[in-house]
Amino acid sequence: MKIILTGAGGNLGQAISRVYERKDVELVKFRNEIDLDLTNRLDVLGTIGAVKNADFLIHTAAYTNVDGAEKNPEAAFSVNSTGSQNIALACQQNGAVPVYISTDYVFDGRKNTAYDEFDQTNPINVYGRSKLAGEYYFQALLNKYFIIRTSWLFGPEGNNFVRRVYEEIKVKDELPVVYNHSGSPTLTDDLAQGIWEVMRSGAYGVFHLTNAETTTWYDWAGYILELMGEDKDKLRPVSWDDLGLPAARPVNSVLDNLNRRLQKLPPAPTWKEATAALLHRLTT
Ligand SMILES: NC(=O)c1ccc[n+]([C@@H]2O[C@H](COP(=O)([O-])OP(=O)(O)OC[C@H]3O[C@@H](n4cnc5c(N)ncnc54)[C@H](OP(=O)(O)O)[C@@H]3O)[C@@H](O)[C@H]2O)c1
Repeated sequence: MKIILTGAGGNLGQAISRVYERKDVELVKFRNEIDLDLTNRLDVLGTIGAVKNADFLIHTAAYTNVDGAEKNPEAAFSVNSTGSQNIALACQQNGAVPVYISTDYVFDGRKNTAYDEFDQTNPINVYGRSKLAGEYYFQALLNKYFIIRTSWLFGPEGNNFVRRVYEEIKVKDELPVVYNHSGSPTLTDDLAQGIWEVMRSGAYGVFHLTNAETTTWYDWAGYILELMGEDKDKLRPVSWDDLGLPAARPVNSVLDNLNRRLQKLPPAPTWKEATAALLHRLTT
């Protein structure tokens, strides 16, 4: 199998590279905008078009600075929307089936229960709107595509919540953590495996892929400290509004992996199992 991978230098891109190394796959990687500038249509069509006989294109590259997007919407739309349009057009040309990585931020968070793939989208920030526009391009331009929405990514690479709690608790007396937002943490390695299973299913469409079960940022931090044998009293519960960040976030962005169950694909490990696995990796 031959797979083109955008954003190979990002958190998820690195995990996909690592997990797929153990599979019988040829990966054609584009790490960042120096390798392939998504916003340049001619560059994208020429470069992706030159890759022959690719089966899939996993599009992880994105403008991911959620607060930065509020200040600079054009940068976010240029990469996440127009960049995705360019990728969709390139897939039209070379026949690779796209796997577009999208986000829980396409929802507004007002639902009381988990969001499934058939729920209405309604993003409340620029980043979410720009990623949803990316989804529309794949749906409008291609018959066969996968859209994979995920959330609260963490893994061995890059700066993420588990790493931050793990490192900051050792040097700080107190850690403010948001208690009033619920979501579905997702280990990048588990997502990479989930993407693999979805791609091979042939069940084109939209999938929510996260680790199983849900939590809040505060309870997640508590569990990390429990695993580390640290004192949970160091955590200070704060509301998201207390942080005064530019972008609004959905209060509830729990993603129900309904389509995964409907397509009889294997369930992901729980977020607790995934967090324990990463901490084990960080400490050994
Ligand atoms: N992180 C999360 O919690 C989360 C949650 C839900 C969904 N997602 C989605 O999951 C995907 C992967 O996220 P991630 O955390 O792995 O992101 P990331 O670490 O920020 O990586 C994004 C990648 O995209 C590249 N990129 C940015 N602008 C580009 C451009 N104009 N042309 C080409 N490449 C460009 C970046 O290159 P540089 O490093 O050189 O900028 C980087 O390699 C994204 O689509 C994101 O929207 C993430």
